Amino acid sequence: MESVRIFDTTLRDGEQSPGATLTLPEKVEVARQLELLGVDIIEAGFPVSSTGDFESVKAISSQITASTICGLARCIPLDIERAGKAVQHAKKSRIHIFCATSKIHREHKLRKGKEDIIKLAVDSIHQALQYTPDVEFSPEDASRTELDFLEEITHAAIEAGATTINLPDTVGYATPKGYGGIFSHMIRKLPIIREKNIILSSHCHDDLGMAVANSLAAIENGARQVECTINGIGERAGNAALEEIVMALRTRSDFYQVTTRIDATKIYPTSRMVSSLTGLVVQRNKAIIGENAFAHESGIHQDGILKFRETYEIMDPAHVGIPKSSLVLGKHSGRHAFRDRVVQLGYTLTDEQLESAFTRFKTLADKKKEVFDEDIEALVDDQLERNHSLWKLTSLQVVAGTNAIPTATVTLTDSNGQQIQDASVGDGPVDAIYSAIQRLTGVKVNLTDYRIRAVSRGKDAQGEVQIELEHSGRKIHGRGLSTDILEASALAYLAAVNRLRNLADREQLTLSEANV
Ligand code: KIV
Ligand code: ZN
Repeated sequence: MESVRIFDTTLRDGEQSPGATLTLPEKVEVARQLELLGVDIIEAGFPVSSTGDFESVKAISSQITASTICGLARCIPLDIERAGKAVQHAKKSRIHIFCATSKIHREHKLRKGKEDIIKLAVDSIHQALQYTPDVEFSPEDASRTELDFLEEITHAAIEAGATTINLPDTVGYATPKGYGGIFSHMIRKLPIIREKNIILSSHCHDDLGMAVANSLAAIENGARQVECTINGIGERAGNAALEEIVMALRTRSDFYQVTTRIDATKIYPTSRMVSSLTGLVVQRNKAIIGENAFAHESGIHQDGILKFRETYEIMDPAHVGIPKSSLVLGKHSGRHAFRDRVVQLGYTLTDEQLESAFTRFKTLADKKKEVFDEDIEALVDDQLERNHSLWKLTSLQVVAGTNAIPTATVTLTDSNGQQIQDASVGDGPVDAIYSAIQRLTGVKVNLTDYRIRAVSRGKDAQGEVQIELEHSGRKIHGRGLSTDILEASALAYLAAVNRLRNLADREQLTLSEANV
């Protein structure tokens, strides 16, 4: 069977989801996981867009060896230079250049004619080839571009030296039949595609909920690279979901007759990592990795499953890395049992991360009789985020209740090891905590979202708080975990403020001060 390349753009198009901003160490963490997953090409960022993005692409380039590392660039010399420099130390590097080609973009966005656009693309490909022989070209909004012009620019890009041509459905407008037709048309009309072994690629957005169907139609019609993101995150309604494409190709290989290099058992842990680091929660009924994807409620279905699993399950959850439930751990469980469980849950932790997660597990097991898989997953996800704190919560005291004035006294330890303390009242305990932290850190933010849920079963379950803060138009998420929901609320707020501080330091921005 022929192989389809998986081009993951979680760290570029995916990170463009509002609030999903990741810090440099988090991006490197995700890139490592994508490498383990078996992704062929990792689009690590858009280096010209900020110092932070440039540094992240550079760091990923120096640490990842199995996957090709790609940087995005517009048809602008500075963009290409930044992308080229960011990926220059990668074992395998790629520059991805794009330029809008549809009539609506030409007339209203670029205000350029067809000839000028072709010249821009050709010149940019020549420039990119000075950094790497692996150059991808995308005529942006390809699905709304006149077919004859699409042919013309594709031909020119190939002649100029591009080795991959990506035909994006930038605004999620295409239908499967129409989108697939563009690929078969190109292959039929441009013999140069076969002669030069050019890879055609799909890149679909989900505005009409058809991103995955469109990507599969492209593959049916000759695309041999598919661009996608973990959990389908991305601009607006998102990009095509990697896990859905990979599992469709695998489960229906009888129909598609192609393979990928993806190790499907890493899908679920990768999905959890991306969800927890970006703060973008996966909907319960999401295909492949949602909480309900393999849950059977109806009695008839349950009966069928018990008699023969395949009656109602077309995939085995174990094949996508969903752990079989589950040995419950408790306070007598040792380091060995804990490590085994973490590995079975699909995580790859350093010794240091494992030791620190084990210490937290022991504290949790003292508070809670039974520690479920969900608790361990939440704890390890939280652990992965904890590495980069500038302010740590040292203590929290809260007064709240009927006829009480909600008051919080918060002690933080700052990056110099100094303890700082303040107290505040609020219109509720969470408001009081957040006001006290705002006074202590001096960072002015607006709380735009607050969600709380129980991670596992029982009234002693851990609470997970997810929040979103807004600062100067930028959305930042934070997550906190504790058996005490007020502590979880404080931790979520601190996680978001720490993230904001990290990003601002990297981008050399000044945060607006709180009016304290
Ligand atoms: O959606 C799009 O067109 C893109 C391009 C940069 C490929 O993301
Ligand atoms: Zn896109």
